[in-house]
Amino acid sequence: MSPKCRVRAPSNIALVKYWGKRDASTAWPTNSSLSMTLSTAFTETWAEPTKAREHEISFVRTNHATTSQAPSRAIKHLDFLSRECGFSTKLKISTRNSFPMASGIASSASGLCALTLAALGAWTHSSNLAELVKTFPIDKLARFTRMGSGSACRSLLGGLVQWHVGESSDDQRVEQITPAHHWDIFDQIMIFSNEHKTVSSSEGHLLAASSPMFAARVAGLKEKLALVTNAWRERNFSLLGPLIEQEALEMHAIMMTSTPPVNYIAPKAWEFLTWLREVRATHGIQAFFTLDAGTNVHVLGERKYLEVLTKLLRNDWEQNIFMLDEIGSGPTLDVCEEIDLG
Ligand code: DP6
Repeated sequence: MSPKCRVRAPSNIALVKYWGKRDASTAWPTNSSLSMTLSTAFTETWAEPTKAREHEISFVRTNHATTSQAPSRAIKHLDFLSRECGFSTKLKISTRNSFPMASGIASSASGLCALTLAALGAWTHSSNLAELVKTFPIDKLARFTRMGSGSACRSLLGGLVQWHVGESSDDQRVEQITPAHHWDIFDQIMIFSNEHKTVSSSEGHLLAASSPMFAARVAGLKEKLALVTNAWRERNFSLLGPLIEQEALEMHAIMMTSTPPVNYIAPKAWEFLTWLREVRATHGIQAFFTLDAGTNVHVLGERKYLEVLTKLLRNDWEQNIFMLDEIGSGPTLDVCEEIDLG
């Protein structure tokens, strides 16, 4: 058995969305974004040097193997990292998600964050994250990670995280706004379709600017980000909730009015959003939704409302309840001998 670098990297859910790129080649977004790092939804990735001539990637549990003959996003990212950092040794990568890949939950944030850290950890023989950060400070890791997938750079830190757009693509950075323990917020993830989306996020970003509503959105984002951050800092959910719902719907309005238009939200999900607003009014539950580029809905709320909400969900939406998540403290890295599926 040879030692493997093992990384567990969380997914994240954006409260102020990244939708639109200024420059895809440098992974420079149009605007700063803000997300909550998750805990239960994660990717675990093991990396070890191999004498093979190509990188090897296998998706454990699904038995789905691929090599660099079959071009994939992961291989492309490994090639980018080795070029950028000057490592020529090929890697054997094993990876798994804590959630089914076909579920519609964004796996690119956790997946590309885990892959970046595991590959760099294996190449530098780091035994923990602090050691890796000595060689590659967090902003360097963020640059590497977002070249794989933009939202993945926010998964490098725990709690509430801001990805600052900066004045130039080199000026971007990630910042932890509050640590995980700042606020006990749950995220009840609901799934409304198992089908893969027909337009990927990367393709969608490029369409955003064609929406006639895009300029108005961008003009208001700085102020919105400040409002959301303040509501979060003050732990004021009745202020935060309406802001995040409006923000998610605004992003989907951009999607639906771009050329060509993209609709990620299935009819059942729309029904659910109306239901949530109704139960909020009738039961006084402070729980609000947000959505990614998909038809899964994240219902966020303070822990004290979870029990009542769960009862109502079990009653009306049992089939659509997917995963209960919460705020997480960011990725971990260690070294192990065997792949342990836990
Ligand atoms: C809707 O990070 O998946 O989830 O950078 O092209 O990989 P690429 O896009 P990606 O876009 C995520 C978009 C979003 C909103 C967000 O997470 O901020």
